[in-house]
Amino acid sequence: MHSTALSLLTIALALFTTSSRGKISRRDDAGLTTLSDNSPQAWPAPNATGGNAWTDAFSSAQALVAQMTLEEKITVITGQSGRCVGNTGAVERLGVHALCLEDGPAGVRPVQGVSQFPAGQAVAATWDRNLIYQRGYAMGQEFFDQGVNIALSSVTGGPLGRSPRGGRNFEGFFDDAYGTGEAAYLTVKGMQDAGVLTTAKHYVGYEQETFRNAFNNLESYSVFPVNVQSPISSNIDNKALHEVYLWGFAEAVRAGTGYVMCSYNEVNQTHSCANAYTQNNILKGELNFQGGIMSDWGGVWSDAEFINGGLDICMPGVGFGGVLGTMWGDSLFPYVENGTVAESRVDDAVVRLLTPWIFPGQSVNPPPAVTWNADPTFYQTDDAYWRDVRKVETMALIRQIGEDSSTLLKNVNGTLPLGTPGVIAVIGSDAGSNELSTLEGQGVAQFPLWNINGTLSLGGGSGWAIPPYLVTPFEAINYLYAVFNGTAYDAINATVESADVTIVFVSAFTREGEDRATLYLDHEGETLIQTVAANCSNTIVVIHAGGPILVEEWIDNPNVTAVIAAHFPGQESGDAIASVLFGDVSPSGKLPYTIGHALDEYPPDTIVDDPVLEPQAYFNESTLIDYRWFSAYNITPRFEFGYGLSYSTFSYSNIYVQDVYEADNSTIQQKNEPFEGYDGSNSLYDIITEVTAQVTNTGDVVACEVAQLYATFPDSPGIWLRGFDKLKTLAPGETRTATFSLRRKDLSLWSTERQLWYIPDGAIQLQVGASSTKLYLTASWSQ
Ligand code: BGC
Repeated sequence: MHSTALSLLTIALALFTTSSRGKISRRDDAGLTTLSDNSPQAWPAPNATGGNAWTDAFSSAQALVAQMTLEEKITVITGQSGRCVGNTGAVERLGVHALCLEDGPAGVRPVQGVSQFPAGQAVAATWDRNLIYQRGYAMGQEFFDQGVNIALSSVTGGPLGRSPRGGRNFEGFFDDAYGTGEAAYLTVKGMQDAGVLTTAKHYVGYEQETFRNAFNNLESYSVFPVNVQSPISSNIDNKALHEVYLWGFAEAVRAGTGYVMCSYNEVNQTHSCANAYTQNNILKGELNFQGGIMSDWGGVWSDAEFINGGLDICMPGVGFGGVLGTMWGDSLFPYVENGTVAESRVDDAVVRLLTPWIFPGQSVNPPPAVTWNADPTFYQTDDAYWRDVRKVETMALIRQIGEDSSTLLKNVNGTLPLGTPGVIAVIGSDAGSNELSTLEGQGVAQFPLWNINGTLSLGGGSGWAIPPYLVTPFEAINYLYAVFNGTAYDAINATVESADVTIVFVSAFTREGEDRATLYLDHEGETLIQTVAANCSNTIVVIHAGGPILVEEWIDNPNVTAVIAAHFPGQESGDAIASVLFGDVSPSGKLPYTIGHALDEYPPDTIVDDPVLEPQAYFNESTLIDYRWFSAYNITPRFEFGYGLSYSTFSYSNIYVQDVYEADNSTIQQKNEPFEGYDGSNSLYDIITEVTAQVTNTGDVVACEVAQLYATFPDSPGIWLRGFDKLKTLAPGETRTATFSLRRKDLSLWSTERQLWYIPDGAIQLQVGASSTKLYLTASWSQ
């Protein structure tokens, strides 16, 4: 059963104990300290203008809205029952159809006939802009061909990975603002280029699953009945909001995302989906977002406050059988009639929903009509109800992302690649097939139920996608000696004793709805590794996980000769890892997060689980998340952000910094982000400096290297990733130039006093190297 199915069950059970969702308005925050310095709520919500990119579509949308009755307008922006997880209302007399909204970040879900793509975190680990774009494009094609108008994808910075335990970190990209921004831009662009509209989610500060939603009341942390506890409040200072949490959304908006999904959590003690600061002031004001803000499913708690606070589309509205409460629809009507909600606000919401749909031509060239029904309690298993929309080349793309994201953490004495290894043993449930994920067994059992029992190719929840097939590591390595039961120690010992090399596959499942309890492996993985290593002097460990794993118990064991973090690679898992193990390709992935020695090396208290009615998460570390925290406090992690070995070696030389000026030509929708030095025509996204460095392949195999650039600002703690360049297939001895184009924003900080981006006085240190701590070259730049 996948997450929506489970949560529907949860909710259905919960409804026996409660009547319907209470109408809880935004609290008046008397008595609560606000951290939102310079964060004024702003009413009314700014009206759309269409921006520079959607002028014609905007006029058409306005013309349609002018012909609608109030009832029709409210119907359009209120989710309805229908065949998809979200369905907008139709006004057929005007040619406005019901739009189909479907998850998720690693492929269309829950339908068959689609690919299971690598997780966002896995494609981030490639640090390859091309692959990130191609993955977006290939996913977009499948969404469109499955009849989806709006993909509920991608995760562009909520969560960003503030906590290493975050249950949904795998759905997003890097635990870093800039990296996530790059991936957000490319993914939105790729998907929309393929014809589907995107939803950048979850806006904003959605950094823990625990207490995310008052309907999640059957999770292990739940103490209150359904709908009693307020969602967690992410209390974020204005600097961290701009410099860290907004960055990815700014890039998604710049790339022209049609929609943004507001999150379940509160931001500074106001529901995110009713938050007139983050929505009206920032998203529609500062970021000049012209599309529609859509609620997360069940993130709406009342009618007037939410639409006045900037929400445009209420999901699932009156759909979903009402199991998430019913909001808007008829109940919004009286507020408009009595003037609490201006009709012009409703008009603007409809315009914002329709404009992106009209813009790329979906109103004229809609995705094909399909007959599948995504009601999770009613899976169609008959071929007649679904179609295979996969393209052959997508399989190769998925495999390549799996290969190029494989992150080699340890490799002693050239253990890898396996040349002529002799007898190989393959150990662990993560090497084998997963009964629950095969498509043969029909019904809900085809979806892995949480902690799955075979190889782990993706995390769970709405970020899961059904694999059309799943190549297991065992199948790809195709070896005789295997034990899948990871606690059958006698059988394991007997098998590995006669092996020349043992490959142990271990995993850690993570999913929507719940944060990770620890950073350890599932299925007693640590014991398994130690058991094998005690009996085999050449033990290779492959990890499938959706975030950092603490490795201290076993990493220095001399018999553990090689370790690969293989992330969540999707359906081609086995083929990808086999290519790397046997050296068809050299691994070139680098960690998109930091692996510490212990949980307490990371910022403290990043998952709040106090069982109180109004739980509060104070983002006291401000901008210092992940590697920024480690760098600011001089903590040496076990494996740093950006780290990853290769079968080759590289040297870095000749850093060179040159001022250039290249007017921004990548922005699709212009934004209003204020910055010092604005002259009426320049942009925060103009390239103003270029840094180059030479990278030489000093080893003897063809390999790729990800060169990284980090900036240190004067009088400001911690380093910032501000550029990366993946140099592909460098031949032995070959030298190539890594180029980092720095935009004005990349060299700026946010002033909370002046409410603008500014380039600080003094020298900004620019360092280039192979990871966040292996920074071999240093230069400086000042304005
Ligand atoms: C998730 C969203 C998802 C929605 C619809 C919510 O529980 O947080 O990411 O798009 O469900 O399935």
